[in-house]
Amino acid sequence: MRSEMEKDILKVLVTEEELKQRVTEMGAELYEKFEGKNPLFLGVLKGSFVFVADLMRACQLKSNIEFIAVSSYENATESSGRVRINYDLQQDITGRHLVIVEDILDSGNTLAFLKQYFLAKGAASITIVTLLDKPARREKAVTADLAGFTIPDEFVVGYGLDYAQRYRNVPYIGVLKPEVYSNH
Ligand code: PRP
Repeated sequence: MRSEMEKDILKVLVTEEELKQRVTEMGAELYEKFEGKNPLFLGVLKGSFVFVADLMRACQLKSNIEFIAVSSYENATESSGRVRINYDLQQDITGRHLVIVEDILDSGNTLAFLKQYFLAKGAASITIVTLLDKPARREKAVTADLAGFTIPDEFVVGYGLDYAQRYRNVPYIGVLKPEVYSNH
């Protein structure tokens, strides 16, 4: 397939095939855990939109989906530490079993904030699912209950993840060439 973005990618970290296989496994694991429990999948936008769509289809549970949009990176490659809600929950989550779906767990600022926020809103339980885990950069004591891939401390794009709102539609997880940042 032709791609305008391919020339900006230095290397592929996780291929499309690896993503597909792992997401299938994660879906099966969640099925075992939540069968009969009617969980509420909670996609953290924007980054998780690709992953949550694939994960939900890989997990044929009777379940619902809800979204919240937050941001903390403000066009930078490092978290500012301040989490801003750009789009809030549209339903009552009291008593629900939440499956928070993230594309990446990095500093932990986003998930530390969201966990508190959802517990305060009355969630019965919180399960954190992240496609990518970057433990080297953790600032807050947050751990994922289920993680797809542990990755090194490199800034990654694709499969929902952006740099300056671009590259979200790259179908694999890749690392950008350094000149892409310096030209920004
Ligand atoms: C990214 C990502 C996670 C968060 C993880 O979101 O989608 O939500 O950062 O990083 P952390 O563990 O350091 O908090 P971002 O703020 O870039 O917004 P986006 O999802 O709209 O891209």
